[in-house]
Amino acid sequence: MRIEEQVLGTGTRYLLYKEQSVIGSAVLEGSRFTAFAIDPRWQGKGYGCYLLKEILRRNGGFDTQTESCFTAPLPDASNAAAFALAGRFGFAEADGVLRRLRVPDLTAVQLVHRLLSGMLAPGGLYLDATCGNGHDTLFLCGLAGPDGRVLGLDIQSEAVRATNALLARNGMEAVGQALEADHADLARFAPPGSADCVMFNFGWLPGASHAVHSQADNSLRALQAGLDALRPGGVLSAILYSGKVIGDSEKHAALEFFRALPLSRYTVLVCEFANWAEDAPLPCLVIKRPGGH
Ligand SMILES: C[S@@+](CC[C@H](N)C(=O)[O-])C[C@H]1O[C@@H](n2cnc3c(N)ncnc32)[C@H](O)[C@@H]1O
Repeated sequence: MRIEEQVLGTGTRYLLYKEQSVIGSAVLEGSRFTAFAIDPRWQGKGYGCYLLKEILRRNGGFDTQTESCFTAPLPDASNAAAFALAGRFGFAEADGVLRRLRVPDLTAVQLVHRLLSGMLAPGGLYLDATCGNGHDTLFLCGLAGPDGRVLGLDIQSEAVRATNALLARNGMEAVGQALEADHADLARFAPPGSADCVMFNFGWLPGASHAVHSQADNSLRALQAGLDALRPGGVLSAILYSGKVIGDSEKHAALEFFRALPLSRYTVLVCEFANWAEDAPLPCLVIKRPGGH
């Protein structure tokens, strides 16, 4: 079985072949299905599912990070099979058409970015203590602006290279830079009381070996160093992970550390996604209180 794509003036036609014969076809104009049919001799055998799933897949319908919205004309009311197929892929009747809207979940990283965006102003010193592929460092560069300074740290040289390359592609080399270093040593890069923000996104480097990941004891030293580096009013963020690969010792140790911080000096927020799985990423924020004692 194979699917052939033909570009039309108004969209794309998809032909489903079984051996040499076309047994199904569909036309997608932008994100609007204007035709969808399976040869009656081959109906009820899963070919409609195969064709629809493949078209949705090729057009971003299963992307977990981006929103997608597909529509199709309402089938004839007597066409139960068409309604069943559409329903199986999340189409529902809305405003006289079938509509399939997918809005990605808010991720832990997005939540932290939103919270930090509301708390920090341009200028100043920002540290990304786990720069990885550089997305958080780039985000901090956007926050810091041309008058700010951003440093990314990572123990893996490939992460440092990836981050510096991402900053360069986005014209941020003058604002941010990544260096190969253990975040437990971050005092070398930020004197006490100097940083507006210190960001941690623990775990392993996405796309690399899962064998290299942050470790509880070292992470606690790094969190303490991060707090020492903050200026009064500054904020530390940390996304904690648990699960099969990483275990839960780092998450528990970091939570214990955060919960023991004196209220007179720190405001501590643990932002649990309460209706997600137990091992969902756990964003935490620590604000160093101005005038704390
Ligand atoms: C989840 S990734 C970070 C993602 C990254 N912030 C981004 O936006 O792409 C975690 C990173 O922490 C790094 N890491 C682990 N232990 C570290 C340590 N002791 N010091 C510095 N970085 C460390 C890993 O090498 C990995 O790249």
